[in-house]
Amino acid sequence: MRLKLLAFLACAPLATLTQAADVTYRSDIRPLIKAQCVECHGDESPTLADFLQEQERFKKEKLGPRFSSYGELIQLIGWPDSGAFMRRLDDGANSPTKKPGNMYKYLGETDAIRASNLNLVKAWVGEGGWNLNRWEMVGDAAAVSKEQMDKLKLKY
Ligand code: HEC
Repeated sequence: MRLKLLAFLACAPLATLTQAADVTYRSDIRPLIKAQCVECHGDESPTLADFLQEQERFKKEKLGPRFSSYGELIQLIGWPDSGAFMRRLDDGANSPTKKPGNMYKYLGETDAIRASNLNLVKAWVGEGGWNLNRWEMVGDAAAVSKEQMDKLKLKY
């Protein structure tokens, strides 16, 4: 028993590293979204373009933009809605207001699950790719840079 625990502890840091390198849409992100997000972002939801045109109406209907495929999801990360996924899911650590995004709560039932799922989506998006910038500069907030875009991993 004690030996097993030691073996587990010895492997744990390695396991975390391997996981970060191997996070894929198919094996990690799609199941997470299916469990936590499709209720409001699934096939019944408007396309991003339709959503952006009539946000107020869709908000009242509790519908967010549809991202039931890889291609649809990427639009909320890279372009045209650059950084939307990161702004809504960040726990506040990367935000000037330090407030979590309003979709952070859907990452899981407990603090521990939310933190672990946030690490998973961050690893998938890529270090340095995870930033809250938009395509255009807004007020003091810089626009997303080519260097930041280059760091996006988003492995399928
Ligand atoms: C109970 C319904 C519900 C759930 C569950 C939900 N969302 Fe949302 N989401 C919405 C609604 C409604 C909006 C639009 C209103 C707003 O902007 O806050 C939205 C907006 C968003 C946006 C911003 C879209 C844009 O173009 O501005 C993102 C990104 C997002 N959600 C991601 C997620 C993720 C990722 C999950 C799962 C971890 C999730 N949401 C779970 C209802 C939900």
